[in-house]
Amino acid sequence: MFTPKVLLVNDDAASLMALASLLGEGGDYEVITARSGEEALRHVLKHDFAVILLDVSMPNMDGFETAEAIHSHPRSASIPIIFVTAHYADEMHRLKGYQRGAVDYLFTPIIPQILRTKVAVFVELAKKNLQLQHQKQALELLNRELQEQRKQDLEHINERRLAEEALRQSQEELRQLASYQERIKEDERKRIAREIHDELGQNLLALRIDIAMLHARTGATHPKLNKKVHGVLDHIDSTMKAMRAIINNLRPTVLDLGLNAAIEWQVKEFQRRTGIACELLMPEQELEMDDGRATALFRILQESLNNVFRHARATRARIEVYQKDERLVMQVADNGVGIFPGCRRKANSFGLVGIKERVSTLGGELLIETAQDAGTTLTVSIPAEGASGLQTLSAAPLVERRASDIAKSLEGAKRSSGTRRRKSEIHPDKLKQLT
Ligand SMILES: Nc1ncnc2c1ncn2[C@@H]1O[C@H](COP(=O)(O)OP(=O)(O)O)[C@@H](O)[C@H]1O
Ligand SMILES: [Mg+2]
Repeated sequence: MFTPKVLLVNDDAASLMALASLLGEGGDYEVITARSGEEALRHVLKHDFAVILLDVSMPNMDGFETAEAIHSHPRSASIPIIFVTAHYADEMHRLKGYQRGAVDYLFTPIIPQILRTKVAVFVELAKKNLQLQHQKQALELLNRELQEQRKQDLEHINERRLAEEALRQSQEELRQLASYQERIKEDERKRIAREIHDELGQNLLALRIDIAMLHARTGATHPKLNKKVHGVLDHIDSTMKAMRAIINNLRPTVLDLGLNAAIEWQVKEFQRRTGIACELLMPEQELEMDDGRATALFRILQESLNNVFRHARATRARIEVYQKDERLVMQVADNGVGIFPGCRRKANSFGLVGIKERVSTLGGELLIETAQDAGTTLTVSIPAEGASGLQTLSAAPLVERRASDIAKSLEGAKRSSGTRRRKSEIHPDKLKQLT
């Protein structure tokens, strides 16, 4: 509990006693006395005073000098001083007192009531001052804590930002790696397909020609041998067919005829294999694009059709390809059961993820619209022109929209201009060869 202190300074012991006893009655403060200016200064260095009552006329160091000394010291510069005097009451002396930092005057004979009231005002002021100081300290502490908290928050935010940045970068690198691997894979497939075709294919063909000749020449003379040779010819034919199938699986030869032909072939193949009725809408003019893009679109079509066959339980599918505002759009829609909630991303299911990655690499967008028993529509849109390089990477937003009328859109497929239902434009022989 804080008890304010009051300092009484007077060289006369009797006056000091009288003053002390006047103040001592019922005051909520401690009274300290000094018999000289020097003693007063010593007290001031040790204690904090609410107010000092200073006798003006004292031997050695008078009241004014004492006041000056007290106020010149930083520790005591703001202690209020009340001068107690009998003689220097005229205005000049009063002014001198104020200049030295006096706050007030008390004239002897002292009226106890006035004395107590004046002292009480300063004591109250000291209490309030102390309270304010405590509040100030508390506020400063709070402020420091807040600043510390803020610093920590900022550090956390910074750490998080760095972590997010690192994560984003590692995702970007993964995407680049995936795209690079995909390209390498396609190139390698292409190379192997070509080698099989050039080496194995040519040899088989030469072999077949020789055997065919042998077959023709032994027909009349060696019927038994001829029968055997016929069997060998059959074997060679089925080996060639198997070889073509392998080549085609590695790298659809039809892609070399252009994307239009490849899509058409793939859709026909799909319909033949699965019995799912397909409608293909595609522009008449060739879709011009680099091999990387064409292969990516073709693989996306393969994966989407695979999904229709494996998961959709659909009876019909519609494949639409069109160009719109510098973008090439490919849409694969089915009238199946739709993607069940939560089925989109399964462990060890990488079909849709692969599609997303391919689209992302091409700087395009993927949209999957699905609704229960209303089918699924997968729409891929990629920039029609521009290099499909790693530089164009951007995370493709994968949007899923639940539309109840996807099935309806399957019925009345509105055709975009320049799009028509295609008849096969690949020569039937070529198509047969491919399959
Ligand atoms: N056309 C579709 N109709 C219904 N469900 C589908 C369709 N396409 C994809 N799905 C669902 O999404 C899942 C993920 O597909 P995907 O990533 O291609 O992996 P996977 O085909 O290997 O299962 C499938 O397992 C299936 O449940
Ligand atoms: Mg799949």
